[in-house]
Amino acid sequence: MFNKGWVIGGIIVFVAAAAFPFYWYQIGQGKPFPKLELPAKEKRCVESVEFMRANHMRLLDAWRIAVVRDDLLIYTSTKGDKFEMNLHKTCIGCHTSTERFCNRCHDYNDVVPPCWDCHVAPSEIGKGEQS
Ligand code: HEC
Ligand code: HEC
Ligand code: HEC
Repeated sequence: MFNKGWVIGGIIVFVAAAAFPFYWYQIGQGKPFPKLELPAKEKRCVESVEFMRANHMRLLDAWRIAVVRDDLLIYTSTKGDKFEMNLHKTCIGCHTSTERFCNRCHDYNDVVPPCWDCHVAPSEIGKGEQS
């Protein structure tokens, strides 16, 4: 089949393009990587920092599906720690400034996750409804 090679090439190009922000982050060229504000009191994230760096969006997506579709509430990490699967209480409970943590890295990588349209970011608490 003459177009098989094209299909495989297409997949490789797609995967390379999909992974682009990570290469960019790891290579660390171009504009300087911003300083991220890490939690003052906590030392550990839900999973390892390497895992979180590469997979936090997939973890969040899995959490949302588990909560909304399957009525589950608690996530047990690979280390055996338990976390409530909640973007606001758990993630933002530790990373208290989305501005100085999430957004700094997202701006650098040109990503704009559409979460805060509905979920309350810390800077907005008191101004509107809770999620
Ligand atoms: C118990 C506190 C705590 C919770 C809850 C938590 N984090 Fe973290 N997170 C940390 C700490 C501390 C680090 C830095 C760990 C290190 O440097 O070893 C971190 C690191 C990260 C990183 C990597 C940052 C980098 O330097 O590349 C990402 C991304 C991240 N967290 C996202 C999230 C998301 C998304 C959630 C919710 C699913 C979450 N965190 C929940 C404490 C937490
Ligand atoms: C160390 C850098 C870094 C930090 C810190 C970080 N992110 Fe991300 N995030 C990324 C990158 C890069 C992407 C894009 C990944 C891609 O395009 O596949 C992303 C994508 C996402 C996505 C998916 C967006 C989409 O449109 O698919 C969500 C949701 C997300 N991040 C939430 C968070 C939250 C919430 C925090 C803070 C608690 C956070 N991120 C902190 C680097 C980071
Ligand atoms: C259109 C509005 C809307 C948007 C946009 C949205 N969510 Fe949600 N999300 C909801 C609603 C509604 C629930 C259900 C809340 C409940 O059951 O308590 C929910 C639940 C969740 C949950 C589980 C429980 C909780 O409250 O944290 C996670 C995790 C989650 N969303 C993550 C995300 C992430 C990450 C994004 C950005 C990529 C996002 N959501 C964007 C409306 C939204």
